Amino acid sequence: MLYIVGLGPGSQQLMTQEAIKTIKKVDTIVGYITYIHLVEDMIKGKKIVTTGMRGEIERSKKAIEIAATGKDVAIISSGDAGIYGMAGLVLEMAAKEDKHVDIKVIPGVTASIAAAAALGAPLMNDFCHISLSDLMTPWDVIKERVDAAAKADFVICLYNPRSKGRPNNLHEALDIILKYKSPDTVVGIGKDVARKREIDKITTIKDLDETEINMTTIVIVGNKNTYVADDRMITPRGYTL
Ligand SMILES: C[S@@+](CC[C@H](N)C(=O)[O-])C[C@H]1O[C@@H](n2cnc3c(N)ncnc32)[C@H](O)[C@@H]1O
Repeated sequence: MLYIVGLGPGSQQLMTQEAIKTIKKVDTIVGYITYIHLVEDMIKGKKIVTTGMRGEIERSKKAIEIAATGKDVAIISSGDAGIYGMAGLVLEMAAKEDKHVDIKVIPGVTASIAAAAALGAPLMNDFCHISLSDLMTPWDVIKERVDAAAKADFVICLYNPRSKGRPNNLHEALDIILKYKSPDTVVGIGKDVARKREIDKITTIKDLDETEINMTTIVIVGNKNTYVADDRMITPRGYTL
């Protein structure tokens, strides 16, 4: 059996019971080394298969091969495995292979949900996820999506917001958002959420310091009604108070 397991954003407190149970019961764990470290204390004595960053295809192939031999194997992903994680790739590869492997996807707490809870309640109305990584999606397509989301006044959760390789993507995305939203729109920043160096910050589009944003950060841009009260970022659901 092949389990595709979302580990949550970092701390074991935010792993689901099912994810913990699965990690403990399987014979083999396949994952990127950083994620293996997150569950180190649960996997003593198990076979560990790891590859470096960008080794997703190799990891998926190995996990499918091991599962096809009859072993129980878990391929691990941060957050939720089905949100910019390993689930889609593993399912696509398995569908193309001749070997029959039973697969179960186990959900995890994705970065936006964990950051939202740390910041307050910014996702109380319609929201969307957009990844600013143009490694696999063309930048023009991403820009169109940012434009459409901002025009429709969604709360926008920006994954992969800024890296050394693409230092300007966030800036460009915010410029597009500013076509429709005010510079005073509330922005929540969750950096290393549920990890040791966690920093959560509430600011506005105009005051956002892009140099503080890196690849372990999620940026949540509010909608027109999002406001701050008692240091919490709140997007009203619409109740009359
Ligand atoms: C390739 S995506 C993986 C998303 C993951 N599958 C999830 O559901 O959270 C990586 C991006 O997720 C966000 N992210 C993942 N873990 C995070 C954390 N603990 N704190 C803040 N952002 C995080 C960042 O935007 C990062 O660039």
